[in-house]
Amino acid sequence: MNRPRIIINAAMSVDGRIALVGGKRIKISDDADFMRVHKLRASVDAILVGINTVLKDDPKLTVKKKYVPLAKNPVRIVLDSQLRIPDTARVLNDDAPTIIATTERAQKRNLNAKLIRCGAERVNLGCLLTELYERGIKSVMVEGGGTIISSFLRARLVDELYIFVGSIIIGGDAPSIVAGTGAKENAEVIGLKLKSCERLGSGLLLHYGVKDD
Ligand SMILES: NC(=O)c1ccc[n+]([C@@H]2O[C@H](COP(=O)([O-])OP(=O)(O)OC[C@H]3O[C@@H](n4cnc5c(N)ncnc54)[C@H](OP(=O)(O)O)[C@@H]3O)[C@@H](O)[C@H]2O)c1
Repeated sequence: MNRPRIIINAAMSVDGRIALVGGKRIKISDDADFMRVHKLRASVDAILVGINTVLKDDPKLTVKKKYVPLAKNPVRIVLDSQLRIPDTARVLNDDAPTIIATTERAQKRNLNAKLIRCGAERVNLGCLLTELYERGIKSVMVEGGGTIISSFLRARLVDELYIFVGSIIIGGDAPSIVAGTGAKENAEVIGLKLKSCERLGSGLLLHYGVKDD
């Protein structure tokens, strides 16, 4: 299958959490990491998130001029099976083109975005990635949250992961970097290849590839 290169990027606490208990946003990256993230955003064709990230964090998903002055904004993609996105979501502003990936069951709506329908219940990732590739999108940075990251990993659709580990602990049942049911058997564990590991600002940057089965 022809598909874009998939790069997961996330910031987590030392205990693998990406938000506070209840899902409220917390700043985990510091300026050194934001600089890296925005350079990475500027290098890809598209940035992708799940609808819960839009509802919780309302991100713009653009490249900040402060970090990369002359960068062009990549396409923004939101996975939203039922078209729950509010009209006021910042990801729908005019700063960059936006694609809402949805399903056959979603009601028609007028949005400041292109719609791609893939799948019946939830967005079918294989179908979506083929469609994106055909539209000239050859690299996608997946920025979360944990449910989306889990779906991409479980479908074996990931090429690399950048994980910034902030020097904090959140604990409890705060959302983890990979949601879903998790591995109950050894065979369900996803193997990674450590490519590099470096100190970055006040934290640690881990770069992984994914092991072939
Ligand atoms: N620290 C970080 O780097 C970082 C980055 C981003 C987000 N976050 C945090 O992550 C949290 C949100 O994560 P989340 O796990 O709740 O939600 P999410 O991954 O942002 O979105 C998940 C939703 O996407 C939709 N979806 C559509 N197709 C899907 C598919 N094929 N696979 C999976 N999901 C699909 C589903 O809703 P429908 O069924 O309605 O479509 C699903 O519930 C927030 O608290 C946010 O602050 C942290």
